[in-house]
Amino acid sequence: MAVGIFDSGLGGLTVLDAVTKRLPDVPFVYFGDNSHAPYGVRDADDVYNLTTAAVERMWEAGCDLVILACNTASAAALRRMQESWIPSDKRVLGVFVPLIEALTERSWGDNSPPREVEVKHVALFATPATVASRAFQRELAFRAIGVDVEAQACGGVVDAIEDGDMILAEALVRSHVDALQRKMPDPQAAILGCTHYPLMHDTFQDALGQDVKVYSQANLVAESLADYLQRHPKMIGEGTDSMFLTTGDPAKVSNRATQFLRRKITFQKA
Ligand code: DGL
Repeated sequence: MAVGIFDSGLGGLTVLDAVTKRLPDVPFVYFGDNSHAPYGVRDADDVYNLTTAAVERMWEAGCDLVILACNTASAAALRRMQESWIPSDKRVLGVFVPLIEALTERSWGDNSPPREVEVKHVALFATPATVASRAFQRELAFRAIGVDVEAQACGGVVDAIEDGDMILAEALVRSHVDALQRKMPDPQAAILGCTHYPLMHDTFQDALGQDVKVYSQANLVAESLADYLQRHPKMIGEGTDSMFLTTGDPAKVSNRATQFLRRKITFQKA
């Protein structure tokens, strides 16, 4: 039994870490498409082709359920995959919905009409492709009314994190927060809509101020996955081994991953 966790690179490790802690008996197959990261500057067809190739590789590794721990792939490719590509015995789930459920204080399967929620001014930080897709605003509109969302495309942050240049990543985060605050001076909440960004959580929080509630996905996705597997236990596939796959240089990617998760992580070539 194994569940796949996919990201364009290292960001999905923030989700992997949370799901591993929440579900210690489930083996996870992590796939980082590091040689093609960042996805955030690619067009939708490109993201679709890369994401489907990676998901096929995880099916080969014994996963029937794959979590796209990548907002860019969730925004640009997931709907198309679900409409026409995923076989009936497999599932691919994205990371947007748990986040929006938390923001709108809804539970899974609550299909009641959109209603007013407590937060009215929300800052969304995401990759250029995620912002351009408007997928977050679309999902939010199904659940909440009267929420003003100001989105900030955070160019360069994923590249800096993938390169391990955390000084550059921090400077870029501060300048993107500054740009957001010029458009929306007092957001009540901020959404880190890219799984790389929790690695910069403290910088976002510091730049935004302690009064802003910062939502990130890792723990929310872990709770949703635990709930999903309880309701669909058969979706834990046949694979029995946890593994880390990358399209990049395994030694380099392993070093960065070990540094981020503060435990030894060994990637192998996908
Ligand atoms: N972690 C991916 C996300 O959540 C990063 C996308 C990228 O590669 O630009 O959007």
